[in-house]
Amino acid sequence: MIQFYLNGKLCEVDHFYSDLMLSDYIRKELCLTGTKVVCAEGDCGACTILCLNPLKDNAFFAINSCITPLPTVHGMHILTIESLENNDTLHPAQESILKNHATQCGFCTPGFAMSLAGLCEKKISKKENIVSVKECKNYLTGNLCRCTGLDSLVKAGQSMEIKRETSLKERYHTLSIENELLTICSKDLLIESENLICFIPTSYEKALDFLALNPDAIIMANATDLGVMQNKRNLKLKKFLSLHLIKESYDLINDHGLVKIGSKVSINSFRNFLEVHCQEYARYLNIFASPQIKNSATVVGNIANASPIGDNAPVLLSLDAELEIISNGQQRREKLSDFFINYKKTSLGQGEIIKNIQFNLPQNRILKFVKSSVRKDLDISTINLAFNIKLSGEQVEDALIAAGGVAPIPLRLKRTENFLIGTDISKINLEDLCEIALKEFEPISDIRGSSSYRRVLFKNKLKRTLGELR
Ligand code: FES
Ligand code: FES
Repeated sequence: MIQFYLNGKLCEVDHFYSDLMLSDYIRKELCLTGTKVVCAEGDCGACTILCLNPLKDNAFFAINSCITPLPTVHGMHILTIESLENNDTLHPAQESILKNHATQCGFCTPGFAMSLAGLCEKKISKKENIVSVKECKNYLTGNLCRCTGLDSLVKAGQSMEIKRETSLKERYHTLSIENELLTICSKDLLIESENLICFIPTSYEKALDFLALNPDAIIMANATDLGVMQNKRNLKLKKFLSLHLIKESYDLINDHGLVKIGSKVSINSFRNFLEVHCQEYARYLNIFASPQIKNSATVVGNIANASPIGDNAPVLLSLDAELEIISNGQQRREKLSDFFINYKKTSLGQGEIIKNIQFNLPQNRILKFVKSSVRKDLDISTINLAFNIKLSGEQVEDALIAAGGVAPIPLRLKRTENFLIGTDISKINLEDLCEIALKEFEPISDIRGSSSYRRVLFKNKLKRTLGELR
């Protein structure tokens, strides 16, 4: 039985429904039709709900329910748009949307209200009342409206009366619910239905035992990619392993400068950590997908996916990251630069799980992480570049340079690094450097750009970024 709380009530779901997305279950089985589905691929935010994971931050975060497989909310507390009103009084997010005329056809509106409610939750927890334009825009990045436009929605966000509101967490997430969810999360769950086999273990050991017997099972982080493939590309998720009940998978550790990112650490948690420890990386992740995706997607998932244009790969390559990979009775470490083998192919063997990604926090290095995408927000890179340079006076003492979107896999540009090492940064011949770099790869052509376009883009980014360092 899949168990989770929804709007303060326990839902016990028969395995028969386990191959549904959360949005379908909410709308079609529970008849809570306030949650809308428009794109069904995590892009528009109409399906936004709030989710609390008792093993993680213990706060409600916005996620996209359209790409969330139902088994992955086992043990969670979900809030839908129906939870917002309180005894016939609208939530400040709803009231403010109404007062600011921030809705027309209304199809996108529940999603906006849920994103703003998520912002309200954060403000209440921090005891803050004022919402800045920037905060509104950041929280609304993952919501699209075709009718009203952003201005009135930002005004709505800014004029929410947060002061008078009791948080949704206080209203719905009682201590007894918290304890009950923790009990649910302490037990493994095996789902076997006609269409799906899914195992949700509470430890890596049990996950590995399952994988040893089921080498064809997909290891799922949070399905922000697999969910889209299921909805839009006919992928049938028939057998998977969800790691979300493994408590240690959420560990994000700074061990004397060695950072270890557990397999379930979300992009958002990682970005918050980086704000203190590596601001250039945090800034770069500001323009990684939408808040809803950042709350779900994981750093390890972004790497395991092995997309040539994944945003984290070049940065982690430039930080000389390593993977800790476990299998039944064994453990190995692999350099990230050896992990990518070919387009979407990695060295991860059958029965293996990436337990964490590790890198040393850079000290006294110049870091520059840049990405170029068709549009600024909500878009994966066309190309991305990462520089990690150490200077001794004006001389380049060490350089690690990596790029994505220029080949079937993300690459370290070793010849370019060697050209740079030992040179005077103020006297680098950028044309010569570009010539060497452009010989290191053959860009792919795809919907985001042709090979020749990518070469020009790469050259411009390389020249501009290194030009700024001179
Ligand atoms: Fe568009 Fe879910 S329906 S993000
Ligand atoms: Fe119509 Fe937003 S009000 S799509």
